[in-house]
Amino acid sequence: MTVVATTRRQAYPARPAARLPRLLAGLVGGRPAGLNQHESSFGPLPLPEAAWSGNEAAGRRAATRLIDVVERSGLTGRGGAGFPTGRKLRSVAAGPGPAVVVANGSEGEPASRKDRLLLSRTPHLVLDGISLAAFAIGATEAYLVVHDDDARLVAGLEAAVQAREVAGIDQVPIQVVGIEGRYVASEQTAIVQHLNGGPGLPTFAPPRTHERGVAGRPTAVNNVETLAHLAMIARYGHTWFREAGTPSAPGTTLVTVSGAIARPGVSEIELGAPIGEVLMQAGGPAERPQAVLVGGYFGTWLPAEEAWRVSMSHPGLRSVGGAMGAGILVVLPESSCGLAETARVVRYLADEGAGQCGPCIFGLPALADALADLAYHGGRGDAVDRIAGLIPLIEGRGACRHPDGATQLAASALAAFSHDARWHDVEGPCYGVRRAPLLPVPGDLESW
Ligand SMILES: Cc1cc2nc3c(=O)[nH]c(=O)nc-3n(C[C@H](O)[C@H](O)[C@H](O)COP(=O)(O)O)c2cc1C
Ligand code: SF4
Repeated sequence: MTVVATTRRQAYPARPAARLPRLLAGLVGGRPAGLNQHESSFGPLPLPEAAWSGNEAAGRRAATRLIDVVERSGLTGRGGAGFPTGRKLRSVAAGPGPAVVVANGSEGEPASRKDRLLLSRTPHLVLDGISLAAFAIGATEAYLVVHDDDARLVAGLEAAVQAREVAGIDQVPIQVVGIEGRYVASEQTAIVQHLNGGPGLPTFAPPRTHERGVAGRPTAVNNVETLAHLAMIARYGHTWFREAGTPSAPGTTLVTVSGAIARPGVSEIELGAPIGEVLMQAGGPAERPQAVLVGGYFGTWLPAEEAWRVSMSHPGLRSVGGAMGAGILVVLPESSCGLAETARVVRYLADEGAGQCGPCIFGLPALADALADLAYHGGRGDAVDRIAGLIPLIEGRGACRHPDGATQLAASALAAFSHDARWHDVEGPCYGVRRAPLLPVPGDLESW
């Protein structure tokens, strides 16, 4: 069942029967899908007739129906925290006055490529999602935010927006906005502050973004992958969406697989697939695996044999103390040092902190120092205790989740590499610290 009708009289292509691929079904050849190709893959933007009719009451009813469908689909945000998308849209729609929609395509996670893939290869699916979200919440402004250092991506998106303007597709004009490439600049309150003319740094909630965001108006910030799923759900319905995945984790998701893996890259998986299966679909480990970093730089190290069985879903990862994050999987080979990799990333996160709160000013640099001490010096027998002592002093004390993400990574490293940590602490560094770095941090990205 198609959920909403369209005023543009093209026929919809048949609903995709296969469970995979969905978002990536429109990827043909190596070039971005233009508007014609997008519409022949997915059909036109499925805005309801009521959106164009000028009948305000009918428009509101259709908008509520769209939010209902998104809620019933069980779609959760793909930007990291996994918040239910329908609930977010409903609370923004209920706010006072015209709302604002912001698509977060800034992809601050250095080990993630999924948002860039969507934006560069199938931009109209994301732009459809922005238009539909704007309709659902009654937005009069829409922004698509990406890093300003990727001039080619920005130019491609501007061209895609212009093509839609010429075709008269979107009711609300979409503005492409470039933001600074810092890690915390991609956090939603930082984006809102940037759009309000301030620095791209997180602000102190409340008021929350969904209550008072851009220009003080109710604002929905959604990850671009989330919006691409929304565009599919609006076309094919919540029952179709739930045909993939599991009842508690419905649908598909994009994952970026890297590290010691035969075919690194982005793929689309059903939520709930065991991590081992996902890695085997990427060609399997290129070297004997030691551990897997799941979720990204706010994520969790899991020993390889444990990771293999865990399901790639919020409930599956929560059950082992992990999180989906931005759908990142990095395979660490036995020849690498997980402590050295963690020390490099926590140093990067410490340097990226906005320096506004105690845990970012004092806590993260101290944690990075202690981890570097353990990884590269060791031998004094006190570094593990120092790290374990610092973590509770940092956790839960920042205005945003940045410090907690870093402590989660550090704590999981002490657990997953507990044997190595004791060795480093007493004997000094292992041979793995001499290996070339595996986890990308900006500055050495070109080697990724
Ligand atoms: C430090 C930090 C960095 C973040 N970086 C991103 C990012 O690069 N992309 C993203 O979509 N969300 C990022 N988030 C989450 C956003 O703040 C926001 O929750 C998300 O864009 C909401 O979209 P969703 O509900 O579709 O997941 C970040 C959060 C934090 C705390
Ligand atoms: S915790 Fe750090 S990144 Fe977050 S608002 Fe405070 S200083 Fe900024």
